[in-house]
Amino acid sequence: MSLSIAILAAGQGTGMKSQLPKVLHPLAGRPMVKYVLDVALQLEPTRLALVVGYGAQQLRQVLGDGILYVEQSDQLGTGHAVLQARELLAGQAETVLVLYGDTPLITHQTLEAVLAHHTENKAAITLLTFRPDDPTGYGRILRDGTGRVVGIVEHKEATLEQCESREVNSGILCFRDAWLWSHLERLQLKHEEYYLTDLVELAVAEGEPVAAKATDATEVMGLDDRVKLAKAEALMRQRINEGWMLAGVTLLDPASTYIEASVEIGQDTVIYPNSHLRGATAIGRGCRIGPNTIIRDSTVGSGCIIEASVVEEATVEDDVDVGPFAHLRKGTHLAKGVHIGNFGEVKNSYLGPGTKMGHFSYLGDATLGANVNVGAGTITCNYDGERKHPTVVEDDVFLGSDTMLVAPVKVGKGAKTGAGAVVTRDVPPGQVVYGVPARPKQEKERGENRNE
Ligand code: UD1
Repeated sequence: MSLSIAILAAGQGTGMKSQLPKVLHPLAGRPMVKYVLDVALQLEPTRLALVVGYGAQQLRQVLGDGILYVEQSDQLGTGHAVLQARELLAGQAETVLVLYGDTPLITHQTLEAVLAHHTENKAAITLLTFRPDDPTGYGRILRDGTGRVVGIVEHKEATLEQCESREVNSGILCFRDAWLWSHLERLQLKHEEYYLTDLVELAVAEGEPVAAKATDATEVMGLDDRVKLAKAEALMRQRINEGWMLAGVTLLDPASTYIEASVEIGQDTVIYPNSHLRGATAIGRGCRIGPNTIIRDSTVGSGCIIEASVVEEATVEDDVDVGPFAHLRKGTHLAKGVHIGNFGEVKNSYLGPGTKMGHFSYLGDATLGANVNVGAGTITCNYDGERKHPTVVEDDVFLGSDTMLVAPVKVGKGAKTGAGAVVTRDVPPGQVVYGVPARPKQEKERGENRNE
């Protein structure tokens, strides 16, 4: 069976009370419409059209050019929205599937099932129905005495008796292509809308088969306000977390573990409570993450420990341990075996293999070699009030506690600085400097004798 798909996303979504178009509100870190696009593309349609209207420009910006957009400038209802896609979709496939951009929890399996049901019944229309706890606002499914579907009545139009029906339309519908496009223009305007759902009555009147398939209420929840958005967030989080647990990742407390849809995690990694893994983040195998850790847009190798720390746009190689209470900022690159202890902050810096920075330090715009010891309280003074300057510290350097590296400055291989040294000039390899400003041992002593 060949398939074309229309995703309706032109509505404003006033229930969100937001400047952001409804379908761009994120769910587990991704705009909700992206989930719908993904699941739609998995069905390998011959054509897919996204009907946009309110916030069309923003949608195009976020979703890019790889999509066929259809503009619906006046939002005159779902029937009108689908009609806008006629030119692009008509005659492209045997079946047309209509999805909503605000129904991101729908799964591939359910769509496959409704499409199979549609084909089996040779139906003109197949509805995906469900039974919500509260059917207010939904189109009610009307059945005759034999249980056959005979129509959908919108909540606004429904009689009290019809309102009692708990079986409602999810909005996801399959149509026989030729039948859909030849009947859409027959819809009548009601309450300033053309109801796509009125096609059911038309099909029944013509003796065309109309089929219905039931699904779980959670999958077809339309997220038209922030209460539903939060419910969907919890469901999506549960789905993502269960996926990772089944893939070999331990989550001590899934309810307080927040993993966005875009994150990758290796086997045997253990995630402790209150950890947030966000954006383009990849974590290796056998790591211990958290408790209380936030990692965003970062790559972490295998065998790492990141405890109670914040990591943003950083690269961390294997066997690194960070925290508690460390902050790795944009452009940080920690090589294998680096140790960052409590209250360490690193920005736009490379720390070579085995380098250790145990306590209360800041490194910005710095390049450190291998096996450097960064003494407690060491700081790169990288900003002169106008510009940032680089610091280079070569392999095996020992930076004494409270060393101030006044950039631009370079400390040569194997050099040492004394506690409290303010390093304003380059230090040659192997030299020991101390004091304010830092000078080599003999030079300093000579200077002090002159002063006596
Ligand atoms: C629609 C159905 C209703 C169903 C409910 C499920 C119709 C007439 N009614 O209700 O039977 O129970 O969905 O949630 O189809 N949209 C457009 N352009 C428009 C109007 C809507 O693109 O002119 C899009 C919206 O962005 C949204 C979707 O269509 O993604 C549904 O619109 P919404 O207003 O939420 O649904 P209702 O029409 O109230």
